[in-house]
Amino acid sequence: MKRILLGTAAAVAFAGTAAAADLTVGFSQIGSESGWRAAETSVSKIEAEKRGIDLKIADAQQKQENQIKAIRGFVAQGVDAIFLAPVVATGWDTVLEEAKDAEIPVILLDRTIETSDDSLYLTAVTSDTVHEGKVAGDWLVKTVAGKPCNVVELQGTVGSSPAINRKKGFEDGIASASNIKITRSQTGDFTRAKGKEVMEGFLKAEGGGKDICALYAHNDDMAVGAIQAIKEAGLKPGTDILVVSIDAVPDIFKAMADGEANATVELTPNMAGPAFDALKAFKDSGKAPEKWIQTESKLYTQADDPMKVYEEKKGLGY
Ligand code: AHR
Repeated sequence: MKRILLGTAAAVAFAGTAAAADLTVGFSQIGSESGWRAAETSVSKIEAEKRGIDLKIADAQQKQENQIKAIRGFVAQGVDAIFLAPVVATGWDTVLEEAKDAEIPVILLDRTIETSDDSLYLTAVTSDTVHEGKVAGDWLVKTVAGKPCNVVELQGTVGSSPAINRKKGFEDGIASASNIKITRSQTGDFTRAKGKEVMEGFLKAEGGGKDICALYAHNDDMAVGAIQAIKEAGLKPGTDILVVSIDAVPDIFKAMADGEANATVELTPNMAGPAFDALKAFKDSGKAPEKWIQTESKLYTQADDPMKVYEEKKGLGY
C-alpha cells in the first residue's frame, strides 16, 4: 500500500508553494496539447497564488488512466478539493465516487463528463461548447452568403466534450444553409502537428485544396498547423480557404493580422479563478454553487484589430 501511495505521489508534479495555505487543491490537468491548455495551467497557478491556495498540479499527458491515478493520489493525501479537466467525457463515476466517499468536492474545469449522478461533482466551470461551434457555423453562413462551400473539419480529441459539442454546434449553425457541406471530418487531437498532418491529407483528397472553401478547426492550434499545410500546398489561407476556429490564442490573432485566418471564438483560460471562488464560498457557507458556472464565448474576426488583441493576450498567461 505504502509503495502504491509513494508511486502515486511521485507521478504528481507539485506546483503549489504556500506553506500555511488555507486550502490545498489537487488539479488533474490533461497535459499541454495546445497553447490554450498551457495558458490554463499557468493562469491556474497565478489565481491560486493570489488567493494563498496550495495548488498541486498533476499532468496526465492526455491519458485518462493517469487522471484516475492522480485523483486517487489526491484522495489519499486528503486535499480540500479536486479540480478535474477530464480528457474524455465518460468513465469517471467510480473514481469520483471514491472522492465523494472521502468528502472531497470535485470541480470540473473546461470540459464536462457524462454521468447519471451529478452529485459526483460540486460544479463545472466551462463555456457552452455547443454554442461555440454554433457561433463558428453562423459566422460561416453569413460570410459565404449563399455561395456553395465545402468545409473540412478538424475535430478535437475523440470522446472529449468539446470535440463532441463543437461538432454538434457547428452542424446546428450551418443546418439551414444548404450551400454549405462538411466534406471531410477527422480528429487532429487538438494539436498543431496533427492539425497540419490531417490537413495535408484533406488537401490531397480534395483536388489539392481547390475543392475546399473553408476549414473549421475545433481549436486554434490545429488551425495554425493547417494554415501551414495550406501554404505549403501553394494556396492562400484566409482567402482561398477560409479559416474559422476556437480558443482565441495569441497565434491565431497574428494569423488574422496576416490575413491567414478569418475568425475565432474565445475560450477564457481562466477557469480556475471562478472555481476557487466557488469553492471558497462553499467552504465558508456550506451552500453549494450553481451546477454550471458558464464562461463567455466571444467571436473575433479580422475586423477586431487582431494585432492589438494579440498584444493584450500575450500578457494573460500565454
Ligand atoms: O477543453 C478545452 C480545449 O482543450 C481547448 O479548446 C483546446 O485548445 C484544448 O486542448
